[in-house]
Amino acid sequence: MATTTLLSKPPRKPLVGASILAADFAKMGPEARSALDSGADFLHFDVMDGHFVPNLTMGPDMCRSLRRELPDALIDVHLMVTDPGLFAEPFAAAGADHLTFHIEAVEDPAALAATIHELDMTAGVAINPPTDVSRVMGVLDAVDMVLIMSINPGFAGQTFMPEVLGTARTVSAALRPDQRLAIDGGVNRATAPACLAAGCDVLLAATAIYGSQDYAEAVAALRSGASIVSGSR
Ligand code: DX5
Ligand code: ZN
Repeated sequence: MATTTLLSKPPRKPLVGASILAADFAKMGPEARSALDSGADFLHFDVMDGHFVPNLTMGPDMCRSLRRELPDALIDVHLMVTDPGLFAEPFAAAGADHLTFHIEAVEDPAALAATIHELDMTAGVAINPPTDVSRVMGVLDAVDMVLIMSINPGFAGQTFMPEVLGTARTVSAALRPDQRLAIDGGVNRATAPACLAAGCDVLLAATAIYGSQDYAEAVAALRSGASIVSGSR
């Protein structure tokens, strides 16, 4: 599967995921395609349930439609929901390639990661800014990616919280070369260099891409100044 290769191989340059949360929802197919045509490596698909976070967004049906429209796209689903285990199978059936769940939402993260793997997807664990890094350190072996939230999740367009960079550095030092470290929230051309310096190799961005006039320039700007080399971790 293309996904596994992209997320499990140390990238020569940082990967950029376009978070479609800031796209025009009435034009989702063309908006998603446009970000990929502009150089984004994959689509980041934010799922919110109005409980874990104070917003509602999209679910498996939207994922299925995007999969039909973009058969080769890597779809990375970020579950900001109270019960992520409920959604592993529906998203697998809807064509998702990767599922990230929040450490704050699960009692047995290794078991959920195993379920996600059994469904032939890669698995990620996300950590919110106030959560102690120790919560994820014990489950690193079970996942393919760790996602550091650099905002309190719920909305696009918030301001980057630099205090999470310490968490990124701690996690980065403990990851294997075949594991990715993503950062999500307020990532833009000004904040990306500090993220990369802290060991992140996957940049997730909504506003920085969809809020710009030129998506290709925006994606290139996110990667500029990067000096990630293969196997650097
Ligand atoms: C927020 C989402 C993020 C969001 C990022 O809860 O998880 O992926 O789309 O938006 P920006 O890049 O605008 O901060
Ligand atoms: Zn997200």
